[in-house]
Amino acid sequence: MEHDIEKVLYSGEKIAEAVKKLGEQITREYKGKVPVLLCVLKGASLFFADLIREIKLQCEVDFIIAKSYGMSSQTSGKLRILKEPDVEIAGRDVIVVEDILDTAVTLSALLHTLSEKQPASLKVAVFLDKNLGYKKPVNADYTCFISENEFLVGYGLDYAERYRNLPYVGVLKRDIYQN
Ligand code: IMP
Ligand code: MG
Repeated sequence: MEHDIEKVLYSGEKIAEAVKKLGEQITREYKGKVPVLLCVLKGASLFFADLIREIKLQCEVDFIIAKSYGMSSQTSGKLRILKEPDVEIAGRDVIVVEDILDTAVTLSALLHTLSEKQPASLKVAVFLDKNLGYKKPVNADYTCFISENEFLVGYGLDYAERYRNLPYVGVLKRDIYQN
């Protein structure tokens, strides 16, 4: 598995440091509130598990399954919500936790759906924001890293459902996804 990685972009230590810092910021900004943290499966699962443990507040957690990629490395632009949140969203302070903001097609569709449920506030925490060189339809409120436009795997990020279990984020070798 490690042989398929061109280079390590963010080590486990660097990730832990960034996630801790983000958790501290959310803890400060949501003081006195009980936020609902919504994990967008599956990519955000590792980030989510680490982030919620760095948020030193009462909070509720739930999971959404939304798909836009299929088995390829290109955004299809189509969003399917396979699992809606079970917790009541109306009147709550919601933080959507995503893995990567690439074209932001997935996120903008998701935010539209969630805003119809009338939360008191709706914010977005992403592990990685890709610098595409142009303005995206939506932006993240909280970000751990801003990366170049490369295909990344590890720490929850997959290629064809694999590599999610790498403890770091790496650039996948091109010959793995370009035949
Ligand atoms: P967007 O709609 O283009 O922002 O796509 C976002 C989703 O595509 C993310 O939630 C990821 O699941 C997936 N994705 C985008 N870029 C990458 C990448 O570099 N590696 C792995 N998954 C990615
Ligand atoms: Mg994915």
